[in-house]
Amino acid sequence: MSYEFILTEAQYQPHVALIRLNRPKELNALNLQLMQEIKHALLEFDQNEDVRCIIITGNERAFAAGADIKQMESRTAIDMLVIDQFETWDQIRKTKKPVIAAVSGFCLGGGCELAMTCDMIVASETAKFGQPEIKLAIMPGAGGTQRLTRAVGKALAMEMVLTGKFISADEAMEAGLINRVVPEELYLEEAVKLAKEIAQQSPVAVRLAKESVLKAFDTGLQEGLYFERKNFYMCFASEDQKEGMNAFVEKRNAVFKGR
Ligand code: CAA
Repeated sequence: MSYEFILTEAQYQPHVALIRLNRPKELNALNLQLMQEIKHALLEFDQNEDVRCIIITGNERAFAAGADIKQMESRTAIDMLVIDQFETWDQIRKTKKPVIAAVSGFCLGGGCELAMTCDMIVASETAKFGQPEIKLAIMPGAGGTQRLTRAVGKALAMEMVLTGKFISADEAMEAGLINRVVPEELYLEEAVKLAKEIAQQSPVAVRLAKESVLKAFDTGLQEGLYFERKNFYMCFASEDQKEGMNAFVEKRNAVFKGR
């Protein structure tokens, strides 16, 4: 499939795929087509057995400055209901392989929500995170009030959502929103390093482990522990588990096949 607003590379690095948002003049504002394209690319990479980890990035100036305001400006509530744009986001969240957001510059509104929908965030020290929707007399609609609050806690989330203030990469790091902050010239490299580390692990175990961590957001503790246990047992059905433990005993590096 060819895309208009994103660039993709299935083998950007061995086992690591890349999606680059590519509307630079509009600071990668997320219009409906761009979000559809991300959804398709993620699905394609999820089904590609050579891909073990996916990176979503923008450019130095912007990861994404939010949903496309010009596209939304004249919409009514019923337009929004009928278009149901967040259905696309639900699909994005269902990606089975780990997705890392490599963020530089503006990461705002839907952009911040997209980054938070990913599993991990690696940021350049120039990154700015925010949910400025309140300044448009709307509010976050793609998970901002929920994921931000879970990540940084009520006090900071409330302040960001109600005032629209931006936080720096260092503040985001301190608040627990992101995984790493590195100099601007290294943010993509650092995300690749993290992706490669994950790509070395068993894809079966990675998938089950990701699913289990995400379950913690959706359930109470008992149900979550039960879910985790089933996935833990399931790992023992894989050839990779035998290989992993055998390699440990034989003091050699394991080679995982995702079977
Ligand atoms: N939608 C549409 N176009 C956008 C945009 C957006 N979210 N953000 C930036 N642009 C466009 C600007 O209109 C401008 O286009 P023109 O050159 O045609 O005028 C271009 O990108 C460059 O932007 P600026 O000239 O504004 O650049 P700046 O450096 O002066 O400011 C900024 C950068 C602070 C990010 C500013 O662009 C801004 O505030 N953008 C909007 C951020 C925002 O409110 N995001 C939330 C959107 S709503 C949302 O996301 C809802 C949701 O939950 C899903």
